[in-house]
Amino acid sequence: MRQDIESILYDSDCIRDRVLQMGARIARDYRDKDLLLVGVLKGSFVFLADLARSIDLPVEVDFMVVSSYGSGTESSGVLTIAKDLSVSVEGRHVLIVEDIVDSGLTLSLLTEDLRSRGAASVQVAVLLEKDVPRSHQVECAYSAFHCPDAFLVGYGLDYAERYRNLPYIGILKPEVYEDRAQCPDAR
Ligand code: IMP
Repeated sequence: MRQDIESILYDSDCIRDRVLQMGARIARDYRDKDLLLVGVLKGSFVFLADLARSIDLPVEVDFMVVSSYGSGTESSGVLTIAKDLSVSVEGRHVLIVEDIVDSGLTLSLLTEDLRSRGAASVQVAVLLEKDVPRSHQVECAYSAFHCPDAFLVGYGLDYAERYRNLPYIGILKPEVYEDRAQCPDAR
């Protein structure tokens, strides 16, 4: 897989340090609260596994599978929930755990959705925030890295369901997706 990666942005030591710091902050902030971590599948699965183990509190973990579509305007957009939570969020402190924020559409819609269900609070912990003009505003209370506007893979992030298992986060060589666009059945 390494030959498909243009450069490594964050290696596993660097990721571990940032996730540990984030976990310690979350543990301080939610010390006396009933915390529910909501992982957004599939991209968050590696990050969530490490983050949850770095939070020294009796947290509960659940997952959602969502997708979003919409125009570039602030208020529009539709959230499709393919897998919902198995617990109620009413009166609970929810921390959404997501891999990357790009336009912000997915997280803005998901945050709104969980707030409308009566959560006591809804905050976001994100591994990567892309440095791009954001069409939808999202407040990320916890953010590990601000990254350049490139296509990233690894540590949960995929391209066409591949590369999620890389232990680092890297920039995918453009020829990988350009080749595939020309020959979609290629493996
Ligand atoms: P947003 O709704 O535009 O913020 O998009 C967020 C979603 O797009 C993430 O949860 C990822 O699934 C996907 N995504 C955005 N940028 C990348 C990337 O560089 N690599 C892999 N997935 C990405």
